[in-house]
This record gives sequence, C-alpha cells and structure tokens, in this order.
Amino acid sequence: MSANSYIQENQERFLNELFDLLRIPSVSADSKFAGDVRKAAEFIKERFAEAGAENIEIVETNGHPVVYADKIIDPALPTVLVYGHYDVQPADPYELWDSEPFEPEIRNNRIYARGSSDDKGQAYMHLKAFEALHNLGQQPVNLKFMIEGEEEIGSKHLGDFVKANKERLKADVILISDTGIFSMDCPSICSGLRGLSYVEVEVTGPNRDLHSGMYGGAVANPLIVLSQMVASLKDENGSITVPGFYDGVEEVSAEERAALNAAPFSLEAYQKDLGVDAVDGEAGYTTIERTGIRPSLDVNGMWGGYTGEGAKTVLPSKAFAKISMRLVPGQDSATITQLFKKHFEAIAPASVKVEVTPHHGGEASVTKVDSIGFRAASNAFEKVWGKPAIPMREGGSIPIVALFKKELGLDSIMLGFGLDEDTIHSPNESYGVENYLKGIETIMEFHQQFADLNK
Ligand code: BES
Ligand code: MN
Ligand code: MN
Repeated sequence: MSANSYIQENQERFLNELFDLLRIPSVSADSKFAGDVRKAAEFIKERFAEAGAENIEIVETNGHPVVYADKIIDPALPTVLVYGHYDVQPADPYELWDSEPFEPEIRNNRIYARGSSDDKGQAYMHLKAFEALHNLGQQPVNLKFMIEGEEEIGSKHLGDFVKANKERLKADVILISDTGIFSMDCPSICSGLRGLSYVEVEVTGPNRDLHSGMYGGAVANPLIVLSQMVASLKDENGSITVPGFYDGVEEVSAEERAALNAAPFSLEAYQKDLGVDAVDGEAGYTTIERTGIRPSLDVNGMWGGYTGEGAKTVLPSKAFAKISMRLVPGQDSATITQLFKKHFEAIAPASVKVEVTPHHGGEASVTKVDSIGFRAASNAFEKVWGKPAIPMREGGSIPIVALFKKELGLDSIMLGFGLDEDTIHSPNESYGVENYLKGIETIMEFHQQFADLNK
C-alpha cells in the first residue's frame, strides 16, 4: 500500500487523535496548567506505544518533561532524530477567539485550536508518519524522537537534557517541523532562523506616585522618559542605535539575496493581510530581507501608571517595557544583551534610574542547502507536492537548533508546513487539514530520500 493510501484510509483517526491532544491546554508559561502539560506528555507517550515505538520514556527535567521514543531497525542504517514541542503559547485574549482555543473545530478545511500549527499539529505529523511507515513495513531509517514541553518558554532545561543524553541522541541529522512554507503553491524549506535577546526594563522616577498637578512639570515622568529612550533606539533609517549592535553581522551575498527575493512575494497582499497602508523597517532591505537576514528590535509590551477606568491624575513612579531583539548569524545573544544594557543605562537622564533584566535568549542558525538532509527535504517536496521547494530564511527563533549543532554536532532540517495565515501565537490559530495530511506524506518521503541519498 502507498503512503498516500494509508494516510487517506486513516485520516479521520489521524485528525481525531490530534484533536484529543489539542484539547489538553499544555501552556508551559503558566504554572496553572502544569498538570495539563504533563498530561500532554503522557498522551504522546501512549500514542508512541500504540504506533510501535520502543524505549519510550517521559524524561524528567527541572521543568516540564521531555518525551523520548525510538525505533532502531538496523544499526547500520542512518538515524534521524526528530524534535518537536508539545507545549503551547497562552490562549489569551480568549475573547478574541471565534471558537474555544482548546476545543478544536474544523472550518474551511482548517483546524482551529491553540497549538494546531505551533507545534502540536506539526509534531504529531511525525508520530503518524512513523506509524504509517512501521505498519506498512517501510521504515527506511532508524528513528529517534524527542518532544519537549518548554519550547515556548525558551527551552530552559533542554540544554541539560541534551548534554546528559548525548549517546541516546546520537543521529545523522535532526528533523524539525516547527516552521512554515511560503505558500501552498510555493513550498519552501526554512534555511535559517533568527536568534533572540529579550530584556525587561524598569525606569524609576520619584520614590512614589505623585499628584500630577502638584508635581507635574517639575519632576521627570518615567513613562515619558521611557518612551523617549525607546524611540531613540532606532534612527531615521530604521537602524538600531545600540553601539556595537551590528558588529559581526554576517553580510549575505548578493546571490543569496537575489534568491530570497525571487520568492513570489506580494507587498500589496502582505499589507492588505495585516491591515497596514505601508510597511516599515531598515532602509536598503526588502521585507523578506528585513525578517530573514537582518536583526530587529521590538517593544512587546509597555506599561505603568494608571490604566484603569476613567481618569486618575497621577505622575507615576515607575514605567516598564519588555524589549526583544531578533538576531542573525554573527551576533551573540549574551553580548547583545550586555550591549543593550550598557547603552540603555548610558542614555538614561539623571532624573531617573533604570534597571535592565535579561530574560531568555538564543542564537541564530543557518542551514547548509547542499547537505544530504536538505536535499532529502527538497526531493520529498518535489515528489509529494509536485513542485520544487525554495530555501527561505524565517524570522522566528528555535534557539535549541544552535545548541543541537554545538552539543551534538548535528544539522537540523526545518521541514515545516505552517502558513502565515495560521496566525500562530495569536487568537484563532489554525492549521490546514491539507498541510497536516500532506505533511505526514512529505515526512515519510523525507525518511526514504534520506536513506537513499546515504546509500
Ligand atoms: N515555532 C516557533 C518559531 C518559528 C515561528 C519559526 C515561525 C519560524 C517561523 C516557536 O515555537 C517560537 O514561537 N519560538 C519563539 C522563541 C522562544 C525562545 C520563545 C519565538 O520565535 O518567539
Ligand atoms: Mn513552535
Ligand atoms: Mn511558538
């Protein structure tokens, strides 16, 4: 039986099983859901057992556990290590969802639920691809799986797990489905991810909230000072002003830039989708380049003072912001965090005190496009989608990819199937039923191609 027929015959069950997983609110960021995070790990463990995997284990960490499973068919064959995450982002704000975030529903052939695309739907494709290969007697490579529960909070304890399990994780390549494709008509393989430096800043003015009439005009307002400081972080060209920020940033060749810009990208459609009349960013770069090969800086949230109902006349004592910087190869996350801290402290006027607290971070990664793994992914797309896949640098971060390279010496192939319209991390996250089913088939084909190319 062909992969395609197996998937067609079992598609209803494949969807129902994913729905059961999506019903578990495994939000890693919120301790209220810690029990559900564990339930999701147990659910995955049981499905691995049913699918025919071996050595299945919920491995404890100092945080949420990692699910490990494998199926070694012949030590002489190559080994693919699959990585994914079963934790999800918080579903807030709930009121903006058209259906319950943890009660999956299919509308317009799309699965609506938190985690449907990022990453439960994509991780689960690997379980079903394995089940199919196993049941069809067609598993062409050894398979190992590690599905973690802390990706959305920076994979805090995964580094320790990897360092402690080097032998168990031995493989020839890592395969990850946690990224996207350009469009259904133009599949792509993610060839690079950005790194991350994330900080929180606190600006303190007077030692208490003040009457804004008694003191207004005479004492620095921390919210205004913070706004000015934040605004100064970019110049009129959209360049980031932190000294040393661009030191070492790898310039991408004219050739590769041309290749990236050859994607059938419509600025008009992009703007329409986002409801903006113009885009914004660093001068001299296209939108694709701004998210793919250039670093960026954003304010994720900013608060302070009175934000309740009505008006309260207050000059607040404190103002806060959460600031993230997306990084590219050549930048080091810890160094960037230090440069930011130093700069932010230096530009603070004498009227306030500032404190910069680092959150999680991680390094950027680029993937060689001429490796056996990348070629296996290209061939798999060609075969299943009937179209060649273009390499695409994506703006998001999966910091563990750089760590896999460092600790295990392994390249990761990012064979993701998400679309921008999945609106991951946002209300009404969804994943195409077609992406899910075709993804399973593409993964099966990847394993076959990887085995063939290694012969
Ligand atoms: N799957 C995403 C990363 C991603 C999204 C890659 C889109 C490529 C395209 C992942 O789950 C994620 O959200 N990562 C975080 C980083 C983490 C340290 C919290 C991110 O990018 O914000
Ligand atoms: Mn993800
Ligand atoms: Mn995510």
